Amino acid sequence: MDTRPIGVFDSGVGGLTVLHECLVTLPHEDFIYFGDSAPERFPYGTKPAATIRRYAHEVAQHLIERDVKLLVVACNSATAAALPDLQREFTVPLIGVITPEAHAAVQATRARRVGVMATEATVASGRYPAAIGVLDAGVEVAQVACPELVPLIQSGDVNGHDLHDAAKRYAEPLKQAEVDTVILGCTHYPLIRPMLQRIFGREVTLITSAEEIAREVAATLERRGVGNLAGREGSYRFLCTGDEQAFQDVAGRFLQLPLTEVERVDPARLEIAA
Ligand code: DGL
Repeated sequence: MDTRPIGVFDSGVGGLTVLHECLVTLPHEDFIYFGDSAPERFPYGTKPAATIRRYAHEVAQHLIERDVKLLVVACNSATAAALPDLQREFTVPLIGVITPEAHAAVQATRARRVGVMATEATVASGRYPAAIGVLDAGVEVAQVACPELVPLIQSGDVNGHDLHDAAKRYAEPLKQAEVDTVILGCTHYPLIRPMLQRIFGREVTLITSAEEIAREVAATLERRGVGNLAGREGSYRFLCTGDEQAFQDVAGRFLQLPLTEVERVDPARLEIAA
């Protein structure tokens, strides 16, 4: 048995889609969620890969200092830019996104045409076409960078016309490419899944990975024998680099669970520690 918490991080509130599945699958575990929401750091997806790598390294280091037993990189941009480096550098098990979505998309597509909606950084990394190509080199992949979506979703205004208009605009090239499967390649996007499903129509399969990530976390704990005592009620708490109140308001709405503890971490402290 291992009573240490599990760390989950993202640039903002998108990783809550992954945290939620983890809380459902592993109700007896404790979690620390880190949202790197400081205005000078968020969003990650418009920044160069080297900057995202530095941020991801700083956040991972901070969570490891807080003694997490496993770390989930619940951010596609950070996974694309930094996961292999983080895995080489740290000994704690690190689980990222991207690969599970690629698997699910290859299984789901009948037309062998897959669309990817993601941040500019994730699209530029080429990680999705590479991961899909390893599984089925005959699948065509159409990618669209969607820079307007993350800031609008993070603001909490998920019913606004601006967001709807932007989502329709980004979906258009994928519809033109006649994809039958679309990977939501950013953990913020499942938060607007109903909107995207209506834009694409029911015949298009939308792929997200939160459930699969939660299963992978559970399997890793089991394999390593580091699960917490079954039957207990686990806890969850939050760290953010931006304004705590703003984070608490938006995150509580998306997680649909009470957020009692939100602590602000000064980004300058992260830089010094790393
Ligand atoms: N949720 C992050 C991702 O999955 C958002 C990136 C950003 O901050 O732009 O890529």
